[in-house]
Amino acid sequence: MDRNKLLKEIRELYGDNTEQLLKDLSVLQGVKKPAKNKRTLAGPAIITLEDTTKTYKLGKTTVDALKGVSLQVHQGEIVALTGPSGSGKSTLLQLVAGLDHPTSGSVTVDGVRVDQLKGNSMATYRAEKLGFVFQFFYLQPFLTLKTNIKVPTMFVKMTELERETRAKMFVEAVGLSDRADHLPRELSGGQMQRAAIARALMNHPNLILADEPTGNLDSANADAIMDLFEQIRTERGTTIVVVTHDQRVAARADRIIELKDGRLV
Ligand SMILES: Nc1ncnc2c1ncn2[C@@H]1O[C@H](COP(=O)(O)OP(=O)(O)OP(=O)(O)O)[C@@H](O)[C@H]1O
Ligand SMILES: [Mg+2]
Repeated sequence: MDRNKLLKEIRELYGDNTEQLLKDLSVLQGVKKPAKNKRTLAGPAIITLEDTTKTYKLGKTTVDALKGVSLQVHQGEIVALTGPSGSGKSTLLQLVAGLDHPTSGSVTVDGVRVDQLKGNSMATYRAEKLGFVFQFFYLQPFLTLKTNIKVPTMFVKMTELERETRAKMFVEAVGLSDRADHLPRELSGGQMQRAAIARALMNHPNLILADEPTGNLDSANADAIMDLFEQIRTERGTTIVVVTHDQRVAARADRIIELKDGRLV
């Protein structure tokens, strides 16, 4: 289609939101290679943990998953969270996401005490500020890939057209355009993982928490996902925390935070 005609159509549909839409589209077009030099970390703290602990009780046994962790992550940082299996990485991410509450200590995100949020304010926090990539995907088995990706948008104000446009854009950004109408069981593990990543990006979160987002991907696809994360960070100042066992992925972060046995190394 002729570019000017397309632009005119977009302006008619999007009105005041046109500039943002065009910016979004340019972010994702082909996912440009990001600049080599790392960003300076001048932004304010967006995540603050203060002496945060988490103890799980299972019958008579207790597991100290986090044993007093204090840390800060700054706006616009890409942080890799590493450490052996069972060291508390997923637990830490879940506390930041408000999917679980700490046993003691505090979790503050963007000035809000997440450990004290409840009910509607918690739901709003998750829907509007956060994109979460689950370690085990959690795609709805009876929804197609594209509908799965649209699910988070049901909890924020968005027109159907915008839902559709963003879904298309992110499905393409993770290389799944030809699988958009498939059910999760018809997808490979890596394809499900990429769908889960696309879903986390749909509401343009200010903070992306990704639990081993490249764990099922080959190195070319893992690189493409890290390119996409870097691009989104550069364009939108998004903060991204990535749990990973992959040294190559960790090496691309601005900073590595390592956990061992529930403590920072
Ligand atoms: N819901 C739960 N109930 C009881 N124990 C739990 C629960 N979730 C995690 N744990 C325990 O807490 C510890 C930390 O688990 P966590 O899932 O945070 O580790 P992880 O670093 O993400 O490991 P992995 O790399 O294998 O994903 C482990 O010993 C785990 O068994
Ligand atoms: Mg984990």
